[in-house]
Amino acid sequence: MRLDDLARGVPGAVLEGGGGVEVTGIAYDSRRVNRGDLFVAVHGIRSDGHAYAADAVAAGAVAVAVERAVDVPAGTPVLQVPSTRTGLAEIAAEFYGRPSRQLYVAGITGTDGKTTVTHMAEHVLMASGVVAGAMSTVAFSVRGAEVDNTSGQTTIEAPQLQEWLRRMVEAGVKCAVIEATSHALVQERVRACDFDVAAFTNVGHDHMDYHATWEDYLEAKAHLIDLAAKGADKGIEKTAVLNRDDPSYERLSRRSISRRWSYGLTTAADLHPLDLSMSATGSRFRLKTPLGETEVALAVPARFNVYNALCAAGVCLAVGVPIEEIGPGLAGFDGVRGRLERVDLGQDFSVFIDFAHSAGALASALAELRPFTKGRLIAVFGSTARSDHDRPGMGKAAADLSDFFIITTDDPLREDPAEIARDVQSGAAGRAPGRDYEVVIDRRSAIRRAIDVARPGDTVLLAGKGHERTMQMAQGAEPWDERAEAEAAIKEKAGAN
Ligand SMILES: Nc1ncnc2c1ncn2[C@@H]1O[C@H](COP(=O)(O)OP(=O)(O)O)[C@@H](O)[C@H]1O
Ligand SMILES: [Mg+2]
Repeated sequence: MRLDDLARGVPGAVLEGGGGVEVTGIAYDSRRVNRGDLFVAVHGIRSDGHAYAADAVAAGAVAVAVERAVDVPAGTPVLQVPSTRTGLAEIAAEFYGRPSRQLYVAGITGTDGKTTVTHMAEHVLMASGVVAGAMSTVAFSVRGAEVDNTSGQTTIEAPQLQEWLRRMVEAGVKCAVIEATSHALVQERVRACDFDVAAFTNVGHDHMDYHATWEDYLEAKAHLIDLAAKGADKGIEKTAVLNRDDPSYERLSRRSISRRWSYGLTTAADLHPLDLSMSATGSRFRLKTPLGETEVALAVPARFNVYNALCAAGVCLAVGVPIEEIGPGLAGFDGVRGRLERVDLGQDFSVFIDFAHSAGALASALAELRPFTKGRLIAVFGSTARSDHDRPGMGKAAADLSDFFIITTDDPLREDPAEIARDVQSGAAGRAPGRDYEVVIDRRSAIRRAIDVARPGDTVLLAGKGHERTMQMAQGAEPWDERAEAEAAIKEKAGAN
């Protein structure tokens, strides 16, 4: 694409120098520039891309996009933009032909449940015959064909995101469901996406180091509603899908958008369940919506998945899925990899893998499993190197809500896993080491130990790794497969008996 053609589609862009150069890619990291790229100088958390513009040109960039003057070799075309953060998103969208205008796009945000809602909605869409795509923490999916998200980011940077949307358009996808974190919203990674639906799970108090206050955090998330309200018109009504039972509801519902649907467990919500019954494996209810009713039999456990289903139902209804398709669609959803994923090899105790890696998520996963556990509830978990996680809080959650637990390793990076475990242990002051819990630093051994002590009727929760395929160690990322470890442990136990 010619630079001047690209520049024309970027709001506020001023081109200095030759617009005739051919741009063959978009780069924002000077160390990863390919010949022919347009380099966009973005302020990262740690460094400012403006300092690397000359390096980018040396590495083959044919032009640079900046928000202030930079030193580049004479003759380098410079695209001046009001902000390179928003500029990166606009440039990427333009480069890939504004794919989000050729698709319905739903954004899912909130503190917990984003990935689940994303794939639930994708599943219901596909089941009802709407070709769907999805982007989440776990996977990128186009027409049901999935690849693992190994980027380490839930919401990828704008150029990759726009490239995936383009792939979706080319594959005939009609609706894309995008998991959007608040970091991504603040960093404008999803800015140049023309959303049709903005859906919210809950808005808790995690990540408070990054967002000074809950209000700011809420504000960052609320931005998704504005993106939908302002998005290009595709002939369907712009809709916000909001959790009426969450403290965020009051604030979010004041945001201006054409249509607002609330969901929740009470009849005050636009979408709500009637005659709800829960079991160890799922739930049943009649789903009331503004567009009619449908019977739902969910095959994923936990009350929070009722919320997730209501949210996903709202998303699908908003993009035109008929109400009678919603129930059967939800019924066929068998969960997201690593989200209360059952490992069942016919053993006489239950084993679940879950991604819960914060104190709150660990507590809620344990609370969900308790009512369906006849025997003891056993937890295996660790705290990661990320310092914003409440380590003693995780120890306390396990101490309060499980019968026996094992503190182990989870992505320690350069920190000493034993040191991390001691921080976790400090929250479990009321419980006796050796009797109520153990510290087993090697995660393989910890999983085997938990499976080994499990008796008939017990439930073992392996928390923290979920779908992840690597363990982040000081020496780099090592391959990891929680499910394979759990299965091996169960088989070894069966073999030993
Ligand atoms: N609606 C919800 N409310 C509270 N906790 C939830 C909800 N949905 C899922 N969870 C918990 O959070 C974990 C992560 O779920 P996930 O769908 O991956 O959320 P996210 O993508 O927002 O991190 C789940 O395994 C479960 O323990
Ligand atoms: Mg996620």
